Amino acid sequence: MKFFLDTAIVEDIRWAANLGIVDGVTTNPSLIARSGRKFEEVVKEITEIVDGPISAEAVSLEAEKMVEEARKLAKIHKNIVVKIPFIEEGIKAVKVLSKEGIRTNVTLIFSASQALIAAKVGANYVSPFIGRIDDTGARGMNVVEETVEIFENYGYQTEVIVASIRHPLHVIEAAVIGAHIATIPPPILKKMISHPLTDKGVKMFLEDWKKVPK
Ligand code: G3P
Repeated sequence: MKFFLDTAIVEDIRWAANLGIVDGVTTNPSLIARSGRKFEEVVKEITEIVDGPISAEAVSLEAEKMVEEARKLAKIHKNIVVKIPFIEEGIKAVKVLSKEGIRTNVTLIFSASQALIAAKVGANYVSPFIGRIDDTGARGMNVVEETVEIFENYGYQTEVIVASIRHPLHVIEAAVIGAHIATIPPPILKKMISHPLTDKGVKMFLEDWKKVPK
């Protein structure tokens, strides 16, 4: 399973990249705003830290403008994947971009039917927002299950990025389903790594080691 980081905070990206477990990064306008930095500057810096797909989102709402914006974003670095929202204009834009070889991550996916349409027009990635679905009282992971099965049924190469992850169990469930990628906020990745029993065990072993005759 590939791990992407869902953040635009470069210090956090450096930390996780140093662990050797980061395959890519996803950003969105809210995450860029949270970083407090200029969009292009922060995206460029991320491409220097992680050698993998880096999602940068287009903010236009008309297909032609989305395509223009995507072309510019794709020029920033070879690893840029353009995030396109799943709206009708976005569907048209992805079709054009796919023909041009510009990679896309169709975002704000809330149903398997949306994911199927995105795959049909040539999206490289789809991002179902499972946490936001859970927030409505429905089970977000159902969308992931259905989407993974549909893509397998028809041999779509589109990869599923499980997004809007709120806790480690979301990652585990996504991995059990066989989703290709989880995009994980750094605080959740930290929770996946640390366990009090591991820390306690390390401490105990070190204390006992002192008692071993030298
Ligand atoms: O990549 C964007 C997605 O992960 C958003 O997450 O927490 O704002 O629902 P959230």
